[in-house]
Amino acid sequence: MMTNVNQQELEELYELARKAAENSYSPYSEFRVGAALRLTNGEIVTGTNVENVSYGLTICAERSALVRAVSEFGPKVRVAAVAVANLNGKASPPCGACRQVLAEFIEPGAPVVFPVEDGTRRMTFGELLPLGTEMKLK
Ligand code: THU
Repeated sequence: MMTNVNQQELEELYELARKAAENSYSPYSEFRVGAALRLTNGEIVTGTNVENVSYGLTICAERSALVRAVSEFGPKVRVAAVAVANLNGKASPPCGACRQVLAEFIEPGAPVVFPVEDGTRRMTFGELLPLGTEMKLK
């Protein structure tokens, strides 16, 4: 189980997110986003944003990576680290919807790296979504 991710691994993950952004389907916004997830099983899964003419049906890069991870590795999959990148040179922290969806599969201490105005920023998932993993239905 790989739960600790060092800075170099995070930078490599960021590069994979950049590469994934090249596959973006974003004819409406032209905002090309990629995400890469390092899983606790050591695997890496990427995703990109897939837009739709009915705008609200667009899926972000982060959620598209996550659905791939669960589809490939099953419901017990856990995310050790997240990288988000875009090819537009703009800030793109994960949106609120993606944070909530990630919360099902991640620990609050997991690192998340994403583009900001002047480079990249690293935060923990718990900083991005306080109490995000606390809701319990059972
Ligand atoms: N988008 C993502 O895929 N991830 C983010 O973190 C920010 C926003 C996408 C959704 C939409 O296709 C486009 O970027 C503009 O919002």
